[in-house]
Amino acid sequence: APRHLLSIADLTPAELTTLILNAYTHKQTLKSGLRLHHSLSTSLSGKTVAMTFNKRSTRTRVSTEGAVASLGGHPMFLGKEDIQLGVNESLYDTSVVISSMVSAWFARVGPHSDVAEIAKNSSVPVINALSDDFHPLQTIADFLTIHEVFHADRMREGAQNKGLGLEGLKIAWVGDANNVLYDLAIASLKLGVHISIATPKTHSIPPPMLSLIRSSTTTTPTPGTITTTNIPSEAVHNADILVTDTWVSMGQEHEKAARLAAFQGFQITKELAEKGGAKEGWRFMHCLPRKKEEVSDEVFYDQGRSLVWREAENRLWAALAVLEGFVVNRGKIEGSGRG
Ligand code: CP
Ligand code: NVA
Repeated sequence: APRHLLSIADLTPAELTTLILNAYTHKQTLKSGLRLHHSLSTSLSGKTVAMTFNKRSTRTRVSTEGAVASLGGHPMFLGKEDIQLGVNESLYDTSVVISSMVSAWFARVGPHSDVAEIAKNSSVPVINALSDDFHPLQTIADFLTIHEVFHADRMREGAQNKGLGLEGLKIAWVGDANNVLYDLAIASLKLGVHISIATPKTHSIPPPMLSLIRSSTTTTPTPGTITTTNIPSEAVHNADILVTDTWVSMGQEHEKAARLAAFQGFQITKELAEKGGAKEGWRFMHCLPRKKEEVSDEVFYDQGRSLVWREAENRLWAALAVLEGFVVNRGKIEGSGRG
C-alpha cells in the first residue's frame, strides 16, 4: 500500500527532520546554480501528478507544479470546476479512477475526512495540500525557514550540530485555532520546540485536537511544550517567533463578522510584542494569504523581523522534499538525509 502524508502526525521526528534537511539541501543546490542529481531530476519523467484543488491556492499550486516539473514530471491541475467530483461522481469512484492513471495525488479539500477517504482508496501516495484540519506542506516550509534563520545563530552559541538544532526555541501563535496551527504544533513538539497559543475563548483548540497534538512524541533530549491561553500578551512572553494566520479560513466566509468581533485584541503588533515581553530579536511568520486585521503593516513588512517571503518561497523546497520522500522513495524517508 502506498504511504500518504495527511498530517505531520504521520511522520516520526527523524523523518520530519530528514524532509526539512533535504529541502534545505535541494534549495542550496538549485539556488547556487547547480543541478539536482540526474537520477532525482528525471525521477518523475513521463509521470503525472494529479492536483485536485477544491479551494483557491497560490503558494501550494505554484510550489507543487514547480517541484513536479523539477523532477521531470507533469503536474495535472484539476480545479473543482474541471472534474466530475462532487457533482456527478463520488469521492470513492474518483479516488479509484484518478489514482489508476497518475503516480501521486495532491488534494486540497474541505473536511479532513475527504482527503483521508481519497488516501484510503488511492493506489498511489496522497499528499494533503490543505484540509480543514492540517497543512503539512506548510509546516515543513515553516521549519525549513526557522532552521535557516535560527540554526546558524545557535551553532555560534555553541549548540551541538545534531538534527535541526532548534530545541528550546519558543513559538507564539496568536490568532485562530486552525489547520496551519495544528500541524505547526505537532511539529514543534516533535522537534523539541515550545509553542504557546493564544486564541479567543470562543475559538480555542477543540479538545480531541489538543489531545492529538499533545500525543506527539519526540526524540529530543529536552521535549517541547504546548501551552494555551486566551491572553495574547501572555503567549508572546519570551517568544522567538510570533506567528499567525487569517481569522477567516476558506469555507468560513459566512462567519466573517462574528470572527472579526471575536478576535479583537489579537492583532500582532509591535506594541503587543513589547507588552508581552517577546525576545528582543523576535521574528514574524505567516503562511499567507494575509489580511490586515491579524497583523499590522508595520510588523508584516518589517524586513528585519518578518520572514514571510522566505517562508512562502520555502514552500517550493518543501514540496520538492515531499515528492522525493513520498513519491520517488515511496515513503522511505528516514536515513535518506543529505543535510
Ligand atoms: N499558504 C498557502 O497554503 O497558501 P495558498 O492557499 O495560496 O496555497
Ligand atoms: N487557514 C487558512 C490557510 C490557507 C493557506 C485556510 O484554511 O484558509
